[in-house]
Amino acid sequence: MQVAALYDIHGNLPALEAVLQDIGQADVDQIVVGGDVVPGPMPRETLRRLLDLDRPTHFICGNGELAILAQMTGARTGLVTYWGTTSGARPPENIVEIYRWTAGQLQSEFEPVLARWPKTLQLEIDGLGRVLFCHSTPRSETEVFSRLTAEDRLLPLFEPLQVSVLVCGHIHMQFDRKVGTTRVVNAGSVGAPFGEPGAYWLLLGPDVQLRRSSGTHSGYGVSPGRGVCRAERPDAALARKNAGSLYAI
Ligand SMILES: [Fe+2]
Repeated sequence: MQVAALYDIHGNLPALEAVLQDIGQADVDQIVVGGDVVPGPMPRETLRRLLDLDRPTHFICGNGELAILAQMTGARTGLVTYWGTTSGARPPENIVEIYRWTAGQLQSEFEPVLARWPKTLQLEIDGLGRVLFCHSTPRSETEVFSRLTAEDRLLPLFEPLQVSVLVCGHIHMQFDRKVGTTRVVNAGSVGAPFGEPGAYWLLLGPDVQLRRSSGTHSGYGVSPGRGVCRAERPDAALARKNAGSLYAI
């Protein structure tokens, strides 16, 4: 079995299309969407595309989905109790505005869909064994660690899990490292990556392939920001400028 892992799409439909084009040419049996499909500039279109895929697709939630769900609840109760940040603090007003806009776009059609997504998922993948998927770590969708985080800080988190591979995202930077006996792989971001332009994802089984799609769909290969730019959201330019820092927190 081969599994594609798509993380941090952030409403960037052209980037998702570039990845799906490559997935169509690979022998992919199942897809895992690893959270932070939203917020982003084309939330409805991106979610519809993912919900209509032609092969089994699993979803887990990220801090993005939880922040948007909190906005939806807050619109009814007047109280927002979750902001999706590592510190737990409310982000700057321009970011809150993006959350509110995204929540308005999605409710009420997608609220029950997002609310069903679990925080973790386990799959048995040929050649890899037991693979655990989470948005950042199994205990938190907001904490931040990278390729360079000291191993002794991470060992207590990952060793007790007893899985061969842990797949994560959240920081929008792909990496493949060991923490004790656990292989920890960050899928990178499909729609709002740091570093070289492209739509980053993973192909899992029988080994781990770090993939980057450039694609030709909707001009994505020419300018990764164009898909974002075309969105109707009034603050799309700001969102594009801040995409990395905005959505990684
Ligand atoms: Fe993200």
